[in-house]
This record gives sequence, structure tokens and C-alpha cells, in this order.
Amino acid sequence: MSRSSFPEGFLWGGAIAANQVEGAYQEGGKGLNLADVLPGGKARLRLLTEPGFNFEMDRDTYTYPNHEAIDFYHNYKEDIALFAEMGFNVFRLSIAWSRIFPNGDEKEPNEEGLAFYDRVFDELQKHGIEPLVTISHYETPLHLIKEYGGWKNRKLVDFFERYVTVLFNRYKDKVKYWLTFNEINGAVHFPLFGLGFSATSEETRLQETFQGLHHQFVASAKAVQIGHDIIPDSRIGCMLLYAPTYSYDSNPENVMHALEEGRIFNFLCGDVQIRGAYPRYSTRYFEENDIDIEMEEGDLQTIAEGTVDFISLSYYMSRTEKKDKTAEEASSGNLIQGVKNPFLAASDWGWEIDPTGLRIALNELYDRYQLPLMVVENGLGAYDKLEEDGSIQDDYRIDYLKNHIQAMKEAVRDGVDLIGYTAWGCIDLVSASSGQYAKRYGFIYVDKHDDGSGTQERRRKKSFYWYQDVIRTNGENLEGPAGE
Ligand code: BG6
Repeated sequence: MSRSSFPEGFLWGGAIAANQVEGAYQEGGKGLNLADVLPGGKARLRLLTEPGFNFEMDRDTYTYPNHEAIDFYHNYKEDIALFAEMGFNVFRLSIAWSRIFPNGDEKEPNEEGLAFYDRVFDELQKHGIEPLVTISHYETPLHLIKEYGGWKNRKLVDFFERYVTVLFNRYKDKVKYWLTFNEINGAVHFPLFGLGFSATSEETRLQETFQGLHHQFVASAKAVQIGHDIIPDSRIGCMLLYAPTYSYDSNPENVMHALEEGRIFNFLCGDVQIRGAYPRYSTRYFEENDIDIEMEEGDLQTIAEGTVDFISLSYYMSRTEKKDKTAEEASSGNLIQGVKNPFLAASDWGWEIDPTGLRIALNELYDRYQLPLMVVENGLGAYDKLEEDGSIQDDYRIDYLKNHIQAMKEAVRDGVDLIGYTAWGCIDLVSASSGQYAKRYGFIYVDKHDDGSGTQERRRKKSFYWYQDVIRTNGENLEGPAGE
């Protein structure tokens, strides 16, 4: 048994996003959003990365699993009771912007949407679970995408300001922990998810992406200030998709290349949101890539005055970089590019499994910023098998999570101020990048499948009892409940 180092009051729980669980895509006055027009299956990843997505549904060719998802909209009470049974003291969820403002540009919010999240927060409170709310998680209202061009358009800053003001006023007595934009830096690889537009062409992709990101930096900084005014004891964080970037070998050219790639991807957004200014290295990067950001007077001051209170991150994989990679090498790496790391095994979806990378990530972030950290996503997407006796023996998931929690423990011993952990997809849900049900992350199995079949029945997996024991012992015992 390993020595525990998690502090008293450590936040243990799970994470989901509205569009991946709620379903009920046209109920309660909700408007369509980005996830509603993303098809299920292999086509999704291609559409996410290629320029020119048209945001129209094509029901003859594709399925749209987010429309029903796991029907959390109607099952939230049962699901929250299961989270409570595991011992969660925190639950990360997002609010679907288009439930609150169906089109995104209305003056008045939709009361039915607001009331739904009231019910969810009340249910969490009943079980002593602290909500951690992502304000925008890959679910920009479709109208803002089609009419305004998504975050390329400055007007979204004002619409977002109206949206967050409504949220902070409405939930000020119920929610203290907030995150502004999910995986804000993910836009460097997938502008569509976070920024709600598909690049016009490969040549203009970086220009459009960093313009959109600038608008989100301003919007996020405004949200932090508005949140602090309305909820003085709130804690508002940024959310980074963090992938420590290794050099393929000790060739200094490769080391420098890894440093540059890693800095733009992992740090640029954080430097702006946490330190309150564009970093000096961004000047050269913008010049060399013909990126010219249009700013309004006062933007830089807003950014300086709206820095976050804590840093949250998702961690799934590391990235290995090489300067002159062949096309074959370039395609054999992770979701976020790079080359294959010969020391790492990968998941069934090719994501390299690297628990030590999490310890490295936490150390790198804490060394740089000295702010409290929270791991708000981590987990293994895997195929699960329902046994004849109704059990799900997901030892591979337990193994993955155990090694990552152990790595967090080491980071805490290294001196990192880590305040919480919410495992991704604590209940099976629709995968963001592949639009599949089959890519399962949960401690709770949901009987729902890619062909549309399934009863939506919930079942506790083996990992459910394992995580329950981890939480009960505050991370002291990672070996599973006694007797196993
Ligand atoms: C993160 C997202 O990128 O990774 C989640 O914030 C997503 O929305 C998670 O579900 C896992 O990715 P995927 O593609 O396996 O669902």
C-alpha cells in the first residue's frame, strides 16, 4: 500500500459535459448547438479537423447520438444518487448555453433551461456534492455559428457576457467553482469544437484560430471579473488540455522543436488566462505564422484584470515530437499529433498511456504558475463487455486510473498544490471526438449502443466499487476493496 499524500478535504468526483449526456435536445425550450449537428462514428473526427464543415444535419448518411445521449435530462436523480453512493464530494458538469439562450443572442433567458439546472444543483446539494460548472464545453449555440461565424466574431464576447451574468446571478448561492472554456487550447488543433467554426482553408486556419481565441480570452477575463463581483467567494478557473511534450531523442534540434510546439499548445492560453498577458514568445510565433490579431482598446487591460483563481486540466496522453518527421511518422502518434513514443502502449483509440506524464504535467504547471491545480478530466476510453451474470469486469480501467492517481500522489509529494480530481465520463456517455457510445469511460455502464439500441439501464462496473474505496480512503488504498 502506498503512502497517502492527498490533503484533507481533497475533492474527489467525476466529470461530464451537457451535450454528451443530457439528450432531450429539443426539450425545455433548448435551441440546437454544435454537438447536435456532429455525426456519430468515424466521420466526426475528419469533420472536426478538415476545413469547410457546413453545420447541416444529413440524417440519410449519419446518426446524431448527442440528441438522445444517455438521457441525463430525465435520469439525473438516479445518476446523482449513484455518484453519491461512490462517495463523490464534487461533480463537474457543464451548462448547455442553448438551454439558457436557445439562439445565443436573445435579450432574455429561457426560464425552463435555468430551472433544469436549479433542479440538478438542488439534487447535488441534497447529497452533499459540490458542483463544478464548465460554462462552455464544446456546445456553442448553432445560431451563433451560422449567423455570426462562431468565435471569429467579436459579438460573441457580448453574448457570452450576458450568458455568464445570468448564470452567476441565478446560481450564486448554489455554485462556487466555475470554469470558463473547456480545453481552450484544444482549438489550436480543433477550432471547430471550442470556437464553433471550421477554418476557411488550411492557409487561414491559424489566423482564424488565434483571432477566435483572443475573443475567448477577453470573454473569459470578463467572466472572471463579473463572477467575482456577483459571487465574492467564487473560484473561477481556466481549463487546459495538457499534454507534456517530449523530444523524440536528445538531438538539440528535436528538443528545441518539442519546446516550441509544447509552449504554443500547452502554455500560450494559460499564460494569457493565468498571468494576464500575451507571453513574449508569442510575438515571434505570430509574426512567423502571419497571425495578426485584431484587438479593441482595453482588451489587454481586461485580460490583465481577469486572471483566474485556479488551473484545471484534462490529461489523457503525452506527446512526442520530432522536427523532420516523415508523413508516416506523423500519422502514427496521438490525437494531438506528434510521433509514436516507443516506450508507451496506446489505448484502442491510439491514445498513448503515460501515467508519469501526469506527474510531469502537474509539476510543469505548478513550477510555472504556483496556483492550485485540479485534474478535471482523466480516464480510459475502452470497449466494455457485459458478462452473462450482468457484471462488467473493467480491470484495464482500474489499472489505468490507479496508475494515474498514483502519479498525482507523487506530484503532491513533489510539492504541487493539487486540490481535486474528477474522472472523465464517470458514467458512460457519447465520446466527443468519435461520437460513439462504444468508447466507454464510466464507472457506471449505460445500456446504449451505436446502432441506437439499448434500454438506458444503468449498471455498476467493477471500477465503481474500486473508486468508491479510493474515495473512502482519500486515495490511501488504490488496490480495491478488501477481499478482492
Ligand atoms: C476531452 C473533452 O477532450 O476529452 C471531453 O473535454 C471528451 O468532452 C474527452 O469526451 C474524451 O475524449 P473522447 O473523444 O474520447 O470523448
